[in-house]
Amino acid sequence: MSSRQRLEIWKRIETIGDIAVIGIPFDVSPQDLVPFAEQIMKDNPHVKSVWGRLRGTEGDYRLSHYVHLLGDKRSETIYRENGASFFLDFTKVFFSQTLSYEHNRIPSMVRKGEVVINMFSGYGPFSILSLLKGAGKVYSIDLNPFAYYYTLVNLELNKAYGVIPILGDAFKKIYRLEEADRIICPLPERDEEAFEVAKQKVKGKGNSFIHLFARIQVKKGEDPRKVAMQKFKGEFARIVRSVKPGLYHVVVDIRV
Ligand SMILES: C[S@@+](CC[C@H](N)C(=O)[O-])C[C@H]1O[C@@H](n2cnc3c(N)ncnc32)[C@H](O)[C@@H]1O
Repeated sequence: MSSRQRLEIWKRIETIGDIAVIGIPFDVSPQDLVPFAEQIMKDNPHVKSVWGRLRGTEGDYRLSHYVHLLGDKRSETIYRENGASFFLDFTKVFFSQTLSYEHNRIPSMVRKGEVVINMFSGYGPFSILSLLKGAGKVYSIDLNPFAYYYTLVNLELNKAYGVIPILGDAFKKIYRLEEADRIICPLPERDEEAFEVAKQKVKGKGNSFIHLFARIQVKKGEDPRKVAMQKFKGEFARIVRSVKPGLYHVVVDIRV
């Protein structure tokens, strides 16, 4: 293995509670990561298990593929972020530490007593943090039964009793809900459809927001934030991640 590859691997390690996860570069086999796993466990006694994560997410539940490398064969843990605790199994629900900045930024905009709808809630970070920041009620929808289960546990863990978990297709379930002050749409793969539906359910008196995670394709030299703001008439945009050259996930705040 080259020194460039070794350096790349050390940069791809994240810890989720007491579990370390190494992002597997496309040109490295999972078995080659075992010596890294041994070093991680030696240097960090609180790490009880090490896993490798293959690139990308798949299916409606947006799950990544993981390979167990060392230690306990356990993928369920308690992850702490932005002052809250989340119980989750990263092999069963979508998990990305890249979203931790947005998990704080969007809930920090919530005003006291707001009604919030989170269309694609996963294990519940946007929902629970929005409630803890002052929302009156948060409808928290997800299609994945494990996301529903972990949201139930997490609202209990954080005493976030104004979060209402809903299991099912947000594109259908949302029509049964009251209008909201704020709608969070963290599913870039279905950004345009989510935007159309959210527009119908947002209160919309110039003081409501849709936070849309968009999939933005750009030509060389174009700024993905500008492209996203123009497309969705947003008042703020931030790049969440670069997916591949020319393709970005961008969050856009749209005042309605
Ligand atoms: C990118 S993840 C959301 C991440 C989560 N908000 C977070 O911050 O970790 C997208 C989520 O949308 C859910 N999902 C996909 N299609 C859906 C649908 N039609 N209705 C409701 N949830 C859906 C997936 O199960 C997944 O948990």
